[in-house]
Amino acid sequence: MKPAEFKRRRSQLMKMMGRNTIAILPSASEIIRNQDVHFPFRQHSDFLYLTGFKEPDAVLVLVPGRKHGEYILFCREKDPEQETWNGRRAGQEGAIETYGADDSFPIDDIDDILPGMLEGKDSIYYTIGNYPDFDKRLIGWINHIKAQARSGVHVPSEFVALDYILHDMRLYKSREELRLMRKAAAINVRAHQRAMQLCAPGKHEYEIAAEFDHEYRRNNVDHAYPAIVGGGGNGCILHYTDNQDQLQDGDLLLIDAGCEVEGYASDITRTFPINGRYTPAQREVYDVVLAAHQAAIKKVKPGNHWNDPHNAAVRSITRGLIELKLLKGNLNKLIKDQAYRRFYMHRTGHWLGLDVHDVGDYKVGDQWRLLEPGMVMTIEPGIYIPAGSRGVRRKWWDIGIRIEDDVLVTRDGYEILTDALPRKAQEIENLMAS
Ligand code: GLY
Ligand code: MN
Ligand code: MN
Repeated sequence: MKPAEFKRRRSQLMKMMGRNTIAILPSASEIIRNQDVHFPFRQHSDFLYLTGFKEPDAVLVLVPGRKHGEYILFCREKDPEQETWNGRRAGQEGAIETYGADDSFPIDDIDDILPGMLEGKDSIYYTIGNYPDFDKRLIGWINHIKAQARSGVHVPSEFVALDYILHDMRLYKSREELRLMRKAAAINVRAHQRAMQLCAPGKHEYEIAAEFDHEYRRNNVDHAYPAIVGGGGNGCILHYTDNQDQLQDGDLLLIDAGCEVEGYASDITRTFPINGRYTPAQREVYDVVLAAHQAAIKKVKPGNHWNDPHNAAVRSITRGLIELKLLKGNLNKLIKDQAYRRFYMHRTGHWLGLDVHDVGDYKVGDQWRLLEPGMVMTIEPGIYIPAGSRGVRRKWWDIGIRIEDDVLVTRDGYEILTDALPRKAQEIENLMAS
């Protein structure tokens, strides 16, 4: 991502904030995994969006119209000894030269410097509740200013939800963001293809999961979320991540895995036969899910609302379940009664971006949001029939199927970013046989 893009975002935000305001956004913190080992650090997506800065212990401050510079980055100081142990730091010089800050101070000096920047401002743009420790410090600084009110210091009088504005900005993807999302999609497609080709009865779920580690890491990208690799009945557990079991001949394998490129996620699910051929029962359910997927994607176009694809998927799945005799009754009544939820209990998608379940409101007031060009969402209908399902014939047991793709809303419809990965049953069988 080019520095100019981050600058454009900050400028856009500052324009919306107006004069006599200040925005404050802390970075993510390192989290201890055990003893003195940390989890791999992942920057908070809002912070990444405005700075591209990937270190912890930093605070972004924006002060529109500030004479000595509008973009201030508090971050860790250079420290040769610490850097010898734990890696390089940008320091104040790097914050300015590499990350485009107008001004930068050591994070340890924030108590001395930030209160002065708050003084005299009308509004503080900040997200309350995300960073409990920082909330307390900020309130402390404001109380400190209040204590000086009698000497004529102007105390900021309102907090404005920063995330509300930022998340709306993040919902519309720029050309540069789409370039990264296309790259994430392409790497992910190759990883899923590899998994299909290397899958075989007798292997373990973790061995297939390792193919994703391999394909992602060799492209220098990370998982966007823990991979779900579920054989047979494990495919019916929506957030299954144990990935321990052996793959059985005749079962399906559901894989929901995705990587992120510079933070931008791809999120794909495919469900394929472990031995390379769907059984007739698996194929029947598969084709119902595929039809729902197609019906949902057709509803992705500007002017339709967020829930149109879901409604189409629900109608299509309910009709399919009636045809398979898994549901009995009148189509409209079964939809109204949400009878499908026994087999299809999640929604048809979510926004996709810097977070895999990306930010952005799904409703405006009490109306579903209208789809607009530049929004990216997933389409991911499924049917799940665990063993032991009462009143369900055994031939359907342990069939868990989801088909998930990443879809961009374009000017006149949609573009499937993950379209290169086979989706039709026959195409998947062909790839597995090749
Ligand atoms: N991988 C998470 C999801 O599909 O929503
Ligand atoms: Mn998803
Ligand atoms: Mn997924």
